[in-house]
Amino acid sequence: MGAAGYAAAKELAQEDEPAAAPQPTAEPDDDVSNWEGVTGQFALEPGKAHFTSFLLASHPAPVRRAIEAHRKGLDANPRDYLNEHELRLEKEVLGAAADYLGAAPEQIALTDSTTMGLGLLYGGLRLREGQEIVTTEHDFYATHEALRFRAERSGAVVRRIRLYDEPETASEDEIVAAIVGALRPSTRYLALTWVHSSTGVKLPLRAVADAVAEVNDGRDERDRVLVCVDGVHGFGVEDVAVAELGCDFFSSGGHKWLYGPRGTGVLWGREEAWHEAAPTIPTFDGRSYLAWIEGRAPEDTPPGATMTPGGFHSFERRWALADAFAFHGRIGRSRVAERTSALARQLKEGAAALERVRLKTPVDEALSAGLVCLEVDGLDSREVVGRLDARGIVASVTPYATQYVRLGPSIVNTPAEIDEAVGALAELR
Ligand SMILES: Cc1ncc(COP(=O)(O)O)c(C=O)c1O
Repeated sequence: MGAAGYAAAKELAQEDEPAAAPQPTAEPDDDVSNWEGVTGQFALEPGKAHFTSFLLASHPAPVRRAIEAHRKGLDANPRDYLNEHELRLEKEVLGAAADYLGAAPEQIALTDSTTMGLGLLYGGLRLREGQEIVTTEHDFYATHEALRFRAERSGAVVRRIRLYDEPETASEDEIVAAIVGALRPSTRYLALTWVHSSTGVKLPLRAVADAVAEVNDGRDERDRVLVCVDGVHGFGVEDVAVAELGCDFFSSGGHKWLYGPRGTGVLWGREEAWHEAAPTIPTFDGRSYLAWIEGRAPEDTPPGATMTPGGFHSFERRWALADAFAFHGRIGRSRVAERTSALARQLKEGAAALERVRLKTPVDEALSAGLVCLEVDGLDSREVVGRLDARGIVASVTPYATQYVRLGPSIVNTPAEIDEAVGALAELR
């Protein structure tokens, strides 16, 4: 039963037969077989090269259409649209997310953002007396703050470690050794970020997970280290099924590289790992709701649904997440990954050849994704972004104590735009 199955359960309805949902799928002009067709799906302000999709996505045409179709239906008759379409649409979203993640739909919670997923996760993970959580200096505000709240509320010990000194020369061995060397018998959770938005470094998650598995080998089930990941800057970029990365929990927003609706996200957990996570916000899943009405424990609600916060949602966006996965799938996951890394490579090579530019992101594609961070000798990063802006190059500054210029080439960009960005960097005085 869907996350708002509340509506159905409230009336103690028998299992609803989902009505045929509107199908705002591909239109004849949705040709994504070439990159011109893909960029043509976006309504980005013309005359500018937009390199900040990693901040917040522009909706492609199929996502805009789906949102609009659901909005119309909800505006016309919220009760009926919800009752008639909710179960089927929720199933479609979970099915599409499961296909993309390589996971079972029952193991996926729907959230509004990476941050919401991390907050729910780190707030709800079970810790026994004396156990600790290890995170790193490179993680984003959302991880650090969620862990700080957790420590304040429960007295949990949270320790930060450093994985590399210089991002541009970071290596897989250095990162894995730093993690393994930091693990103590009391370490229960490892809180990591797949692609650091501070530097563009991509953690070799598979190698990390393998090394952690070796450490776990001799440990009791309840003492094993579980790997929790903020995966947002790899989600919709990397050509890998998330469930194969070897981590235990993975949170991502849908509204960055995947070009999903703004205000969507997923939190995935491995089946056994979910036992360690308790929900914070009551789900509106019909199974839990019905159990409440009947005065019994919600034993048949799967973990993903249990962890999906209830309350009604901005359903027009939540349901249009299925269309974002479909759009991504039509372009092709490996094509997206190849295109993104080719554009990032072009940018890195062009920038690295400039005398005043210091590239901070590794050139090695095993240790980088789409994000590219750099600094310019003698110029403050904010000033660089301002000057790029004046040239129609939309970039950003890393929101961290150390500030770099950050660009995220993606499927909305062209090689010509990368040349423009490199040209604008070259002309900085
Ligand atoms: C590493 C990282 N995680 C999470 C976020 C926030 O994502 P969301 O809006 O999905 O919470 C950002 C930046 O916006 C980020 O850089």
